[in-house]
Amino acid sequence: MNLSKINHSFPVPPGNLGLPIVGESISFLSDPQFAKKRHQKYGNIFKTNIVGSPTIFVRGAEANYFILTNENKYFINSLPPSAKALLGSLSLSQQIGSQHQERRKLLYQAFQPRILSGYVSMIEDLTEGYLHKWAKLGTLTWYPELRKYTFDVACKFLIGLDFASETQLGYLFETWSKGLFSIPLSLPWTKFNHALQSRQQLLNHLEAIIHQRQQQNLGKGEDALSILLQARDGEGNSLSLEEVKDQILMLLFAGHETLTSALASFCLLLAQYPEILIKCRIEQQEFAKSKEITLENLKHMSYLEQVLREVLRLIPPVAGGFRKIIRTCDFKGYRFPEGWNILYEISLTHQDGSVYYQPSRFDPDRFNYKQTEDISQPFNYLPFGGGVRECIGKEFARLEMKLFAAHLVRDYSWELLPSQNLEMILIPVPHPKDGLKVKFVKL
Ligand code: HEM
Repeated sequence: MNLSKINHSFPVPPGNLGLPIVGESISFLSDPQFAKKRHQKYGNIFKTNIVGSPTIFVRGAEANYFILTNENKYFINSLPPSAKALLGSLSLSQQIGSQHQERRKLLYQAFQPRILSGYVSMIEDLTEGYLHKWAKLGTLTWYPELRKYTFDVACKFLIGLDFASETQLGYLFETWSKGLFSIPLSLPWTKFNHALQSRQQLLNHLEAIIHQRQQQNLGKGEDALSILLQARDGEGNSLSLEEVKDQILMLLFAGHETLTSALASFCLLLAQYPEILIKCRIEQQEFAKSKEITLENLKHMSYLEQVLREVLRLIPPVAGGFRKIIRTCDFKGYRFPEGWNILYEISLTHQDGSVYYQPSRFDPDRFNYKQTEDISQPFNYLPFGGGVRECIGKEFARLEMKLFAAHLVRDYSWELLPSQNLEMILIPVPHPKDGLKVKFVKL
């Protein structure tokens, strides 16, 4: 790359840096239309000042490509201060450059297709158990229940624990995750402080699990924890205990908040579009005969695949990704100054009317490749991000979503209860304000 080509005389993008220190943080946190309104005013690229840093927002495939293919050259991952402290400095989310790539390779061993296929029956058993429980309840607030479900699946998959949501670990995790996107003030009454305390206790729990495995020589399994315990770096050294704990905690978080949001959006949209639910059921009848769901027949559930893709397009659980600019660069006639933050926007890229016809409509047929050309080019459609930091759990997430969805539509019916607020709260992940209250029955 020829650095002399960077044009330092270009202006920084248009926009408003807001008040000193606070910038536009209050509007960013309280107004779901924050970015949309500014894009309407300034175009695809604008500047603002949020959570203590001047930040550039960009949307669209070209900008996504520029950011995600220049990781480590112009940009590195950047987290809000609260998440930085609570995720731990040794987790993948804070590693950069070659260390990040090395650790990713190592963690990826737990997500290979061969390993994932061994988890199908575990996910099915947990799914059936929860569906049965919800049908017995008759009416329920679904979101907290979906969180328990995805937490149980994640704990079993990552650390081999059964029904973790009902244990002290589940309780600590709740308190910890409430602080992740909070004001990083450590005073006795703040969410952040409670979360810091929970982090310490969670790490103690994980340490006890690790010691137990080491004593019983149970580290030879194939869950993420076993893989991390057996792993050796380029020089043959094992990972420190501190790093194993940070990596597992980060995976537990990444592996269940996003999935909860995705599943809740699926349930909400299918309740609102009964004709699409019927089409899903018709497709499932073809597979119900074989009863057992395998990785192979999951691949043939093409309509369900379209529906899940469309759910992740319309309501992506991760709205975008923050990066820090580590070297001044320019893009589309604007200068991106070193030291600023930049956010690539997933949700607004998915709303691009030049790519998606009537983008705010829920329309799974837009992903029917028999009728249309493939519109999901990597940087137009990126619910799992892209480049060297693309979601490592993507295939696991897709597997869990499909298994859950297939069992749900086959055997159960649900309807939204009246008088509830279905408005989407966007932080930390999209979720319906009143938690999605439903009547739930077995067919
Ligand atoms: C529907 C579910 C999920 C969605 C939509 C999702 C989305 C994403 C996105 C957009 C990124 C990139 C963020 C960025 O560029 O800053 C990401 C990264 C990541 N995801 Fe996921 N994710 C999901 C499920 C999972 C699961 C199940 C796991 C693990 C069990 C996981 C683990 C991770 C990790 C570790 C990273 C960081 C990768 C790195 O920095 O190299 N995710 N995810």
